[in-house]
Amino acid sequence: MNITLSIIYLITTIAFVIGLKMLGHPETAKKGNLISGVGMGLAIVATIFLHDFEVPSINYMLIGAALLIGTILGYLIAMKVAMTKMPELVSLFNGFGGGSALLIGLVEFGNNSEDATQTSTIIAAIIIGSITFTGSLIAWAKLNGSMKDIRLPKYNLINNLVILALIAFGAYIVMYDSTNFLLIYLLLAASLIYGVLFVIPIGGADMPVVISLLNSLTGIAAAITGVLYGNMVMMVGGILVGSAGLILTFIMCKAMNRSLSNVIFGAFGGADAAIAAVGKTGGSIKKTTASDSAILLNYASKVIIVPGYGLAVAQAQHVIHELEELLTKKGVDVSYAIHPVAGRMPGHMNVLLAESNVSYDKLIEMDNINPQFPNTDVVLVVGANDVVNPAAHNDPSSPIYGMPILDVENAKQIIVNKRSMNAGYAGIENELFFNQKTSMLFGDAKSALTELVNELKNM
Ligand code: TAP
Repeated sequence: MNITLSIIYLITTIAFVIGLKMLGHPETAKKGNLISGVGMGLAIVATIFLHDFEVPSINYMLIGAALLIGTILGYLIAMKVAMTKMPELVSLFNGFGGGSALLIGLVEFGNNSEDATQTSTIIAAIIIGSITFTGSLIAWAKLNGSMKDIRLPKYNLINNLVILALIAFGAYIVMYDSTNFLLIYLLLAASLIYGVLFVIPIGGADMPVVISLLNSLTGIAAAITGVLYGNMVMMVGGILVGSAGLILTFIMCKAMNRSLSNVIFGAFGGADAAIAAVGKTGGSIKKTTASDSAILLNYASKVIIVPGYGLAVAQAQHVIHELEELLTKKGVDVSYAIHPVAGRMPGHMNVLLAESNVSYDKLIEMDNINPQFPNTDVVLVVGANDVVNPAAHNDPSSPIYGMPILDVENAKQIIVNKRSMNAGYAGIENELFFNQKTSMLFGDAKSALTELVNELKNM
């Protein structure tokens, strides 16, 4: 390979590794993303112009047109997407990654058919790419609410049999018929169907884990195509995405106190479990007003703010920061409690609060903040529900039982802001709202917090 190209690939690889490392902290994440992106751009341009292609001529017009269309579409989508719709976008991008791997597999099938390793790699790219493609599209449809969970009778058994059959079928092609295009199209169709079967039964609350898993599969598919072309950058990029996706998958499973097999085969978060849990709590709630809440906050010495999905929906990150600054000026010790799966994507609350320049040292992770609740005068829960639901500790029949939560019920006073008594993502009632120490401040987070800030300013 051309020495300049090898050096550029090495620079790209370093950019990926540094970028990924920097993505691990909100303060450096933007720069990390940029560094990885520049590395990727460099690799694409260098490959187009410096690679010794075996084909007689390269159609630069076609490549340029495809790049231009992709870049414009990517830019427009990324600029337009609402923060709350990010998981859907990630899911679509995963799908396209898998789709590319399957197309590469199809293009390469039949070349070097006598080389079993090469054919196995192609088969793996087609199977994994197809599963990721349709699986991600189904995940996207579920996340945007256009598709419900579907559980066929004995779906676990069916799915296990289909995946085993796919592997056996792939092995047969490698060993006995590595030039038969009819078989490869059959394998493609079966893999696409498996992608659908794999995701349709998985319950709503488990979708983030599934998306992360599919993300990891996209990385594996990319790494396999890297092996196919002996391309180091594709391999490294794919391995990084694959391993990072897998690590994130396990972190999320841990945050929900679930095993991966339980997520895939357990169908948690489904409608049935949710319906069973709704309506158990009952009891009466205590409503409060912005002015009463402002008095409580004003005279507190320690306040913890618990942000959740509703804060993102209301886009109330700026006003909550204003509230925090106002209280701090009044001598109140204020911090934010960050649950790993609050919101709708990993790191959602960190990203949201970073947008309004909340200082990172005020964002305290769940394990560190939980011991602080008993010494806290007031907890202000804004648009969070499942992540503060004590049913996770107290109710073995609850679908979220065992999930680690923010122990806000241990605080002296709790103010919960949300618009109604509606459930959160898991679809279950929350006994915290009926707790004697809890006051409900109903209203959209942005308007309720603005009112609260105005009241505090007048004190
Ligand atoms: P949720 O349990 O989903 O609760 C959010 C609450 O916000 C709702 O009860 C809603 O009540 C309220 N809300 C909505 N819009 C609002 C607004 N404009 N103003 C004020 N409140 C508003 O959120 P959470 O506590 O952050 O928990 C996250 C859940 O999502 C978990 O079950 C988690 O497993 C799941 N999940 C997480 C992720 C990741 S990776 N973070 C991804 C997908 C799913 P009202 O309608 O009454 O206002």
